Amino acid sequence: MSAAQHEIVVAGLADLEERERLVVEVDGVELGIYFHAGEVRAWHNVCPHQGGPVCQGKIMPRTVQTVREDRKNGGPAFHPSDRTIVCPWHGFEFDIGTGRHPSAPGIGLRPIPVRVQGDDVIVTIRGDQPGFPGR
Ligand code: FES
Repeated sequence: MSAAQHEIVVAGLADLEERERLVVEVDGVELGIYFHAGEVRAWHNVCPHQGGPVCQGKIMPRTVQTVREDRKNGGPAFHPSDRTIVCPWHGFEFDIGTGRHPSAPGIGLRPIPVRVQGDDVIVTIRGDQPGFPGR
């Protein structure tokens, strides 16, 4: 690992599994750490819309439009497994696994490299990541 990056244990996996989401501060920058569908993800807690604290928003099932057998509109429903993070400022939604806005994939959350080792959830902080101080 270069001097320009370092790894930090930000959570215990068992605690993250139970709580589903943790918001932590690393080097003065807030991150949201998520456990969903057996995967761990980390996102900057900065909404791409207007900079709101997106990772403090509700976690909701993704809304889908259903189609009846006669091919007519069956109305909205919740997806059984997909989850979105809903920004508390203006309601933009982001897929918890990809960080992308469901209907505007060009808009998304900024990812932070994260891995699990044993029970430790570890993020990698690089000095060249926007929002982090250089090292
Ligand atoms: S700042 Fe997140 S939706 Fe506007």
